[in-house]
Amino acid sequence: MKSTALVAGLGLAILIVAAIVLSRRSLDPARGTMGPTLAGAPAASGRAASATVHPIDPPSHFGIGRAATDADLARIDIDVRADGQGLPAGSGTAAAGAAVYTAKCAACHGKDGEGVRQDRLQLGPRLIGRNAGDAFDFNESTAKEGAKTVGNYWPYATTLFDYVRRAMPQDRPGSLTNDEVYAVTAYLLARNQVVAESAVLDATSLPAVKMPSRDRFVRDDRESSTRVR
Ligand code: HEC
Repeated sequence: MKSTALVAGLGLAILIVAAIVLSRRSLDPARGTMGPTLAGAPAASGRAASATVHPIDPPSHFGIGRAATDADLARIDIDVRADGQGLPAGSGTAAAGAAVYTAKCAACHGKDGEGVRQDRLQLGPRLIGRNAGDAFDFNESTAKEGAKTVGNYWPYATTLFDYVRRAMPQDRPGSLTNDEVYAVTAYLLARNQVVAESAVLDATSLPAVKMPSRDRFVRDDRESSTRVR
């Protein structure tokens, strides 16, 4: 038993040494494989030779990867614009979204969307809540309520869909079906009192939702305003 192991070990050692010797030979430019133009050249020092000779023609490709297919691109081409362009088929209601929220979001965002802190680490920010009178004061030093929730800060419901679909749940982004994203979006909007509990959200109804903060933002149109120099 012992001697078999010894023989096997020795065999392995010899193989490793042989592999090292062979690989060094093939990397040595003076010996050929890397520099066909060096063949027959006088034994110049490595430095002088590399100054005048391009020993490796760049390969036409590196033999790794493959061309992206339409299906590959479709999987990452998921942006939804503010006007709703790019919204997929599917639909969802707040009732269906409540189940998604409890199972996949509440651990980080809290049972009632109040956010979760563990020690000093924020697992997930607050999502639900409106400032009194829809006050829009988010100045850190003066804001009384101030959390930038979906209900009091986000200007477009379509962006909520886009963000949740691409980034949430944070530990498994991209794992929700389109119906689940519509549903959990409906749930968050209903809990923020932006849409009715019974609303059915889909590619047509979602862009029509007007967010409370929609008109709080101005378009950054530098062409018509004073230019910053
Ligand atoms: C593992 C923890 C975790 C889970 C699970 C999770 N989130 Fe989040 N979520 C976060 C964190 C952290 C942020 C803040 C990310 C940042 O600011 O870059 C966030 C941000 C968000 C925001 C943006 C908040 C804002 O106004 O800036 C929304 C909306 C959101 N999550 C929705 C969801 C939904 C819906 C689910 C369930 C489908 C979910 N999240 C699951 C951790 C989580």
